Amino acid sequence: MKAPKRGFDRLAYWYRALEVLAFGNDLERARFRYLQRLSDRRDILLLGEGDGRCAERLAAAAPRARILCVDSSPGMIERAARRIARAGASERVSFLCADAVTFTPETGRHDAVTTLFFLDCFDGATASGIVSRVSAALRPDALWAFADFVLPKGRLARLRARVWLGILYAFFRWETGLRVSELPPSEEILAREGWRRVDSVDLQWGLVRSVLLTRGGTGATGALSASASPETRASR
Ligand SMILES: C[S@@+](CC[C@H](N)C(=O)[O-])C[C@H]1O[C@@H](n2cnc3c(N)ncnc32)[C@H](O)[C@@H]1O
Repeated sequence: MKAPKRGFDRLAYWYRALEVLAFGNDLERARFRYLQRLSDRRDILLLGEGDGRCAERLAAAAPRARILCVDSSPGMIERAARRIARAGASERVSFLCADAVTFTPETGRHDAVTTLFFLDCFDGATASGIVSRVSAALRPDALWAFADFVLPKGRLARLRARVWLGILYAFFRWETGLRVSELPPSEEILAREGWRRVDSVDLQWGLVRSVLLTRGGTGATGALSASASPETRASR
């Protein structure tokens, strides 16, 4: 008899369909928004990568990069590995089934990291621990691509966001056993670790945000300054 699926394994198959049903293509837009800006990176860490959509896109966008995907769900990793094999990128993309709460990246190895709809799986203290440990191990010129749900400022948009977040957290608690029920202050946590916003975009009336961050000066990231657009905060 097959063991019942646990945690995010239960969602691996349905994950893409469910997000399209709820938010159309906006999570995909947020996820992919800044991947092209990582095109000159050599060693990229994807935390909580999920089903491999970001890894596939990034393997094409950053042709010289090695990519390490860390995820605690064997089901997600299995799907991601199949996707990467189909894309012919298995040589450069590797997978590690591990808990990001205790995982420590190799010091000085990675020059970029992505956390896409990932930090919202944790409470503030745990997200802070992850960001702090990863930040300490990254190269000084590293970039951080972050996308997540956020609470917008406007009254109606905030009300709408609270309803959606209530639904989402209830759903994930039911399906995956997720223990948290509110967003951690991820952008504050990143700022405390010295990460500064290079560019950002808001989608879904401010419920979804994608941000590119750096700790270096603008001169520290050649490709970044060459391709950087002015601050884009397009809310709708
Ligand atoms: C909401 S999904 C986001 C997946 C993907 N990044 C995306 O953009 O859709 C969260 C992912 O983080 C993984 N995850 C959750 N908690 C984790 C942990 N403690 N350590 C590593 N991965 C974790 C889940 O297995 C899942 O793949």
